[in-house]
Amino acid sequence: MDKLVISGGHPLHGEVKVSGSKNAALPLMAACLLTDEPCTLTNLPDLVDITTMTELLTYLGVGAERDGNRITIEARKPEGEAPYDIVRKMRASYYVLGPLLSRFREAKISLPGGCAIGARPIDLHIKGMEKLGAEVAVEEGYVHAKAAKLEGSDIHLRGTKGPSVGATINVMMAAVLAEGQTKIIGAAAEPEVCIVAGFLNKMGAKIAGYGTPEITIQGVKRLSGVEFENMPDRIEAGTYAVAATITRGRIILRNAPSAHMGNIIQPLLEAGGEIEASGKHLTVSMMRRPSPLVINTAPYPGFPTDMQAQFMAWLSLGEGTSIVAENIFENRFMQAMELQRMGAEITIQGTTAVINGTDHLSGAEVMASDLRASAALVLAGLAAKGTTTVSRIYHLDRGYEGLEQKLASVGGEIKRVSVPGDE
Ligand code: EPZ
Repeated sequence: MDKLVISGGHPLHGEVKVSGSKNAALPLMAACLLTDEPCTLTNLPDLVDITTMTELLTYLGVGAERDGNRITIEARKPEGEAPYDIVRKMRASYYVLGPLLSRFREAKISLPGGCAIGARPIDLHIKGMEKLGAEVAVEEGYVHAKAAKLEGSDIHLRGTKGPSVGATINVMMAAVLAEGQTKIIGAAAEPEVCIVAGFLNKMGAKIAGYGTPEITIQGVKRLSGVEFENMPDRIEAGTYAVAATITRGRIILRNAPSAHMGNIIQPLLEAGGEIEASGKHLTVSMMRRPSPLVINTAPYPGFPTDMQAQFMAWLSLGEGTSIVAENIFENRFMQAMELQRMGAEITIQGTTAVINGTDHLSGAEVMASDLRASAALVLAGLAAKGTTTVSRIYHLDRGYEGLEQKLASVGGEIKRVSVPGDE
């Protein structure tokens, strides 16, 4: 298994290009199933999850030609189901449910199951499909949805934990070819929801209100194939912004989606970070330890849960006591135990972490558990005194394109080593 070996304590200086968004690319690829005409997506990140989604589309009999950061998808007549051994690798495989139901009135996908950060149910996805007229059976680990026809409906989609990004996008894709009007009430407003709505409208859909809690969709007869550019990844950009502040360096984030990063930039400034935005670039620097923060993760435009672990690593070096409340997922503090092994003083009380900042962290052998927790451990290793070895970095490869190359290009002493057979 690969590991990352990091020699910490060096401020990072230089420029990093922000890659295409993972969490936009995955539903955009699935949305191409909604037409039999070829669609081309550009600015896709080169990630394991993109490969897995390409594998799934190919398994369904869809033409998917990938060429670097571009892909052309031609879904003449997909068939079959999304099998467990692909879905278990990537829960976002559930994004084929809406398009297949929409176009072929039938879809069968394996239940994604939980993951390290939580149970990750898809009850809201299923509720939305049923409200559009589908019969949905959940048996033997599969979701099987069928509908003689799909009819627009008012769908209350907000769950007990708030809006669902995945369910909002999936139901939007199921509704675009339904008869009549659909209203999604309690919709998620994340930028990833908006870019998928924009893509569908470019294909000929009639969607309004995206970016607000109420999205209205007028069903149309068919959609056309188009070319479309993916947006930059706001969480990758935020992660490199913390790489600059935690190492007390200065990084220029080229092609950063600043307009979607207010909920990251604001707390960075509050903790004492220096940020200047010019055109498509965002320059982030810091010369001191961060001031303490109180962070509550929340649906967009609140503080993103996908940045919680990275901020926890940074605030472990804070000048005082910070509080981090994780309100979206039930088990998203896995990084805390590993950070404690590096000297961080973190106490977990349910879904709240109390962080007493220390003046330094020490390098150690640590283990990644999920995508963003892994990123937090890399950030801590870059700031710690001594050497940090991060194992199970396959988690990282799912969501960060060329991580060690990008960090090394701004002065990070980081290298990937392969340890045969080792965990
Ligand atoms: C998306 O996951 C992202 N993944 C996640 O990023 C992100 O953390 C999450 O949105 C929240 O912003 C992708 O886009 C591929 P949700 P998603 O449905 O859509 C509960 C990363 O690190 N819920 O908005 O699965 C759910 O358990 C990943 O890139 C239900 O109860 O998240 C959670 O508590 C991690 N029933 C809350 O809603 C449902 O049917 C929000 O989940 C669906 C969700």
